[in-house]
Amino acid sequence: MSQAPKTLHIKTFGCQMNVYDSDRMSGLLEVQGYRLEKDIRNADVVLINTCSIRDKSEHKVLSLLGELRPLKQKNPKKVFGITGCVGQRMGRTLLQRVPHLDLVMGPDAIDRVGQLVGSVLNEGKRVLDVGFDTDRKRTYSQPSVIPRAKPSEFLTIMKGCDHFCTYCIVPFTRGREKSRPIAEVIQDVEHLVEKGTKEVTFLGQNINTYGKGTPETLAQLIEAADRVAGLERIRYVTSHPRDLGDDLIAQFGSVSKLCPALHLPFQSGSDSVLKGMSRLYTQQQYLEKIEKLKRACPEIAISTDVIVGFPGETDADFKETLKVLAQVEFSLVFMFKYSPRPGTRAFAMGDEVPESVKDERLHQAQVLVHQILDRQNKNLIGTKTHVLIEALDKKAKHFSGRNPQGKIVHVFNAGSACIGKTIEVEITEANGSNLRGYYVGALRAERNQPFVSATSFS
Ligand code: SAH
Ligand code: SF4
Ligand code: F3S
Repeated sequence: MSQAPKTLHIKTFGCQMNVYDSDRMSGLLEVQGYRLEKDIRNADVVLINTCSIRDKSEHKVLSLLGELRPLKQKNPKKVFGITGCVGQRMGRTLLQRVPHLDLVMGPDAIDRVGQLVGSVLNEGKRVLDVGFDTDRKRTYSQPSVIPRAKPSEFLTIMKGCDHFCTYCIVPFTRGREKSRPIAEVIQDVEHLVEKGTKEVTFLGQNINTYGKGTPETLAQLIEAADRVAGLERIRYVTSHPRDLGDDLIAQFGSVSKLCPALHLPFQSGSDSVLKGMSRLYTQQQYLEKIEKLKRACPEIAISTDVIVGFPGETDADFKETLKVLAQVEFSLVFMFKYSPRPGTRAFAMGDEVPESVKDERLHQAQVLVHQILDRQNKNLIGTKTHVLIEALDKKAKHFSGRNPQGKIVHVFNAGSACIGKTIEVEITEANGSNLRGYYVGALRAERNQPFVSATSFS
């Protein structure tokens, strides 16, 4: 009798790149015969794909590992692996500290996951693989692994970051910048589209410098993707204000499939804090980029990241951050309290801002952003927008997707046939975090029917 297939559960923390890496690992393992298992308790192999960006992110992983220990005691054959950035950063220490861990691997080992899990299962070994690519080439290749495709998909086009912002762990966990060739990326886009994808988001930690050290550029890749038949929308993250060149800015006004949305982290409004962070731009230079973007594409939505409480940040510095938040009116803001990361330059700076001050600043920034978003979203009531429907939320009984600006919209009267389609939606309700509306096509079809009012929401 043939053996039952091994079951696999992957838990993902961190950024979109980790989401993509998890899909890739499950694709690679599924090809080898593994079957996905939703319940972590029943899976033969459990992989936890981790994030190191803040201290809290690492704590979450370590406490989860503690919680999972009884499962290993009950079934010693169960395989536990740590993948991703915590694996890369802690490596052997993690294997030493956590006896029930069988495998620790970094992001560069993803394509070897089958072989690594196999060594644990078949040879009973504890396995460590945290090497970066040792060659100094600026390109790398990643064979296509597309087990299934959703209407909107992430696609990693490069790895690493050469910036070394002083607070950031990413250059240490993901290594130096290397890009995949345009031809290979476009092939993946075509495969995704064949399987039903309509929107692709290209991923890179410092994506504007895609193609560094090669003759290829991000602008060229966007143009090539724009020509892929059947693809409707293109997005990319994450841009760096210094590296976002005029060619890329101009494309927001000229490339029809490129969505009018850009994530452009500014981190701080204070020039002295920006200098301490080694961000390589000033507040004025950042605001000039925003102006240029709006000139190229007046309907563009800009989202951003902010760090409060960087070492040495004074009240006056923080006020500059609030000033930028008020002036730019971002479409979305991710706000973080500075978290010292061992090995980074900022870690050694000292001059820590007290936790209570960080909390207070975070709160102030959140209140301001919420007010702005509430006003911005309420202004959209009565307008129409196009939403690519991604999924049905069975519990909340609505469909959800994003409009071109990247805002999430909940749609009430769409049918399952809308999943994967772009439909016109009239916004009927809004608050600081949410947009709700009705499918205009159906409204027309049902115009003799009484209008179903949306339930109120907080
Ligand atoms: N490559 C992207 C994303 C980096 S991580 C970029 O350059 O923007 C995502 C966000 O986490 C960063 O933009 C920053 O706001 C935040 N972040 C990074 N390191 C941090 C740290 N040590 N403490 C708090 N927030 C941090
Ligand atoms: Fe980190 Fe800066 Fe690189 Fe972004 S650009 S990944 S913040 S080092
Ligand atoms: Fe986290 Fe690594 Fe992404 S540290 S944010 S998972 S690159």
